[in-house]
Amino acid sequence: MDVQVAVEARDVRKRFGSVTALDGLTLTVSRGEIYGLLGPNGSGKTTFIRTLAGLLRPDGGDVHIFGALPRAAVSSGAVGYMTQAAALYGELSVDENLRFFAALEGVTDVGAHVEDALRRVDLLDRRRSTVSTLSSGMRTRVSLAATLLHQPRLLLLDEPTVGVDPALRREFWEHFRSLAASGVTILVSSHVMDEASRCDRLGLIRAGRLLAEGTARELVARAGTSDLESAFLALSAAPA
Ligand SMILES: Nc1ncnc2c1ncn2[C@@H]1O[C@H](COP(=O)(O)OP(=O)(O)O)[C@@H](O)[C@H]1O
Ligand SMILES: [Mg+2]
Repeated sequence: MDVQVAVEARDVRKRFGSVTALDGLTLTVSRGEIYGLLGPNGSGKTTFIRTLAGLLRPDGGDVHIFGALPRAAVSSGAVGYMTQAAALYGELSVDENLRFFAALEGVTDVGAHVEDALRRVDLLDRRRSTVSTLSSGMRTRVSLAATLLHQPRLLLLDEPTVGVDPALRREFWEHFRSLAASGVTILVSSHVMDEASRCDRLGLIRAGRLLAEGTARELVARAGTSDLESAFLALSAAPA
């Protein structure tokens, strides 16, 4: 097992009836990097992330997280998953929500972990606030804190900044960056190209396949375009 590898996916296939969601997806995420999974709606991003989170079993291929099968990695507490539609209890306080999730996940020393998670998303001063009174950006930060409670080494973020305004989006990326600096590996999906340049490495995915992989700069250079959006289009048009 390569200790530098956080996620290793090889030839992963998943169908839903007649729909092929993942069509032989192969990619590797190194430890401590921010890997951006970039692709249009319906390209298989959520399906892949749910596979990594141990919630979907692929029809073919294999997936390892820190050398273990997804379910083993998840039950050992190595994985944090922030879903697209984060489920918080609006009538409860930030603190109560996090204590509830900590209990669900069997986190020990709840008080200290809740405090640490809130500090990481810069929400310690709002811990007594009722969630329904928070801005949507703050609510997303609470969801992020909820995924940090058991101190995962791999964070799966599925389009975390959808519906978030540009200033808050920048703030989120600062949080992601500081998490990565503390050694957390992050796999983040997006269909927004302007976020892509903030990732260490990108995988362009379309129709459940990896089209190209590299830094934003490398992808633009390879496609011979002026920006990532055009690079994505050019690389999509090229024969596989
Ligand atoms: N549970 C499901 N049942 C049927 N089809 C699904 C299901 N989940 C995803 N799909 C289909 O698989 C394809 C990939 O979806 P998804 O992984 O959600 O893409 P993305 O997250 O990139 O938008 C889409 O065509 C979607 O409609
Ligand atoms: Mg999705």
